[in-house]
Amino acid sequence: MKNTSGLPSYQEVVKSRRSIRQYDPNVKISEEEMKEILQEATLAPSSVNLQPWRFLVIDSEEGKETLKELAKFNGVQVETSSAVIAVFVDMKSLDTIEEIYGMAVEQGKMPAEVKDRQVPAIKGLLSGIPAEEMKALNFIDAGLVSMQIMLSAQARGYATNPIGGFEKEKIAEAYGLDKERLIPVMLISIGKAAEEGYESVRFPIDDITTWK
Ligand SMILES: Cc1cc2nc3c(=O)[nH]c(=O)nc-3n(C[C@H](O)[C@H](O)[C@H](O)COP(=O)(O)O)c2cc1C
Repeated sequence: MKNTSGLPSYQEVVKSRRSIRQYDPNVKISEEEMKEILQEATLAPSSVNLQPWRFLVIDSEEGKETLKELAKFNGVQVETSSAVIAVFVDMKSLDTIEEIYGMAVEQGKMPAEVKDRQVPAIKGLLSGIPAEEMKALNFIDAGLVSMQIMLSAQARGYATNPIGGFEKEKIAEAYGLDKERLIPVMLISIGKAAEEGYESVRFPIDDITTWK
């Protein structure tokens, strides 16, 4: 199912992805390639294009040692992966709206009048909403970018495992980040697979879909 460019097709990528928990510890993904993966992943859509996701790439020995304590039930992934990407959301992402829409104008992707109309409207809409609601909005976006990280990695021949089992209340502080501002969503281990993993089941679509 390779397409003409020699790259795996979308179907091949999405159907071959499965959670891999054991990696070849000798394979290191370069910072350059990791940035490409993240750049591709951030093509994901987000609510009013706020892009509230923030990444912490844990790939040093020291960083991994810290993480081992925080993700005790997922130690193999932490130990053997090339890196673990911690996906956070920035609870102050609304503060970046001027910058984002300003960039769009600068790059000729949005007329200045549209920005001047939309920025105050979005601020008006979102600045007053309760933190829990903002967090829920941000988490939707973080889920989308996380999936794209996993698919981008898969397309490049790497494997991943989304991980929710870690000490969420401790992770920001453990890496010197502002825990009021940065809320962790999930970890994604990434590396060269050293196991086949296993197939998992899915509901038949007719069991989970209603047509009206
Ligand atoms: C948000 C989230 C949290 C998860 N947490 C863990 C985890 O802590 N440890 C683990 O081994 N797998 C974890 N998984 C992986 C799931 O078990 C796995 O995705 C699911 O069984 C489907 O298998 P597949 O990924 O191979 O398709 C998590 C998956 C998601 C989406």
